[in-house]
Amino acid sequence: IDDLTSQDLKGTRVLVRSDLNVPLDDARTITDDGRVRASVPTIKSLSDAGAKVIVVAHLGRPKGAPEDKYSLRPVVARLSELLGKEVAFAEDTVGESATAVVEGLGDGDVALLENLRFNPGETSKDENERGEFADKLAAFADAFVSDGFGVVHRKQASVYDVATRLPHYAGGLVGSEVEVLKRLTEDPQRPYAVVLGGAKVADKLAVIENLMQTADRLLIGGGMAYTFLKAQGHEVGSSLLDAEKVETCKGFLESAKERGVEIVLPVDTVIAPEFSADVETSVVPVSEIPADQMGLDIGPESQALFAEKLADCKTVFWNGPMGAFEMAPYAAGTKAVAQALVDVTSGGGLTVVGGGDSAAAVRQLGFSDDRFGHISTGGGASLEYLEGKTLPGIQILAD
Ligand code: 3PG
Repeated sequence: IDDLTSQDLKGTRVLVRSDLNVPLDDARTITDDGRVRASVPTIKSLSDAGAKVIVVAHLGRPKGAPEDKYSLRPVVARLSELLGKEVAFAEDTVGESATAVVEGLGDGDVALLENLRFNPGETSKDENERGEFADKLAAFADAFVSDGFGVVHRKQASVYDVATRLPHYAGGLVGSEVEVLKRLTEDPQRPYAVVLGGAKVADKLAVIENLMQTADRLLIGGGMAYTFLKAQGHEVGSSLLDAEKVETCKGFLESAKERGVEIVLPVDTVIAPEFSADVETSVVPVSEIPADQMGLDIGPESQALFAEKLADCKTVFWNGPMGAFEMAPYAAGTKAVAQALVDVTSGGGLTVVGGGDSAAAVRQLGFSDDRFGHISTGGGASLEYLEGKTLPGIQILAD
């Protein structure tokens, strides 16, 4: 982006793809504005250079047509506040409202267009359909800046196709995210540990396979741990279990042993009869989970074990909560891991929190962003980067 902002951009219309996919509560209030804040520096630098800035983004997964609950309108006020200037809002993405808003922009002005995914062309698998939509977006601008790191793993019109139609630049956020993630994949300082959590083991299998080539230790908690515990021969009661993946997990445990990668699993777990904050909980060793109880967080011994395994690390990547942290009785495991990362940061190590959910979790638990080396705005995108996959939104910029 420096190539662009070092020029006088007065009179230049710049289309910026940001990731403003923020969590909203029932009243449509933003509950974590991390992605909006992370998007501001790029937008501001273009506006300061005199450009007419047209921001495009998605929210949620609407099915190619407008739906009130997915409108980007709640984001516009926060973006204006953070930028310190009024951001114009277009009620559609490429229709009459967008055209009028874009035509009305003066030098340094900023506009946000309505949710890209209200248009079927944005996410279409058909290249022509995507291309038609990308043509309309490109017609608004003279240059394109890709800054939505959270979506660079999607081959979508505003991420990929539009870059083939305009002079294109990597935004500051995409640049800094890639720089940090490169340090994890290319030459991490060792010991290098990866902590994985979250509910779905199936989503993480490819990344685990890839990480076995680079990481020294893999710590696994959250809902996904129970499939690994089952693979170790434990009964997991009514905990989350992906029965189809037990054999794959068994294979991972064996191949980790052969490669000298240490896999660390919980040794105790907080159990409850159901997924609720208002039931009696207890802590048991993972070998003693009763048939009618489910594990909802890693237990205190596991917290101490995970902290010990992270204490001497020089590099740590973390994706996914250790338990159902939204409910107070099951938040201690996630909090303990967050604290262990904070300690590594204080000791001079590099800590990276990946993923919108993990980022929201640490903030909700009271940790400020500056206590970690880097909080990635990309969940799927950062995991796919670590998997070694080609990310379409990065590849097209490099091309
Ligand atoms: C995310 O939330 O990870 C990004 O905004 C991408 O959203 P998507 O998974 O709906 O494509």
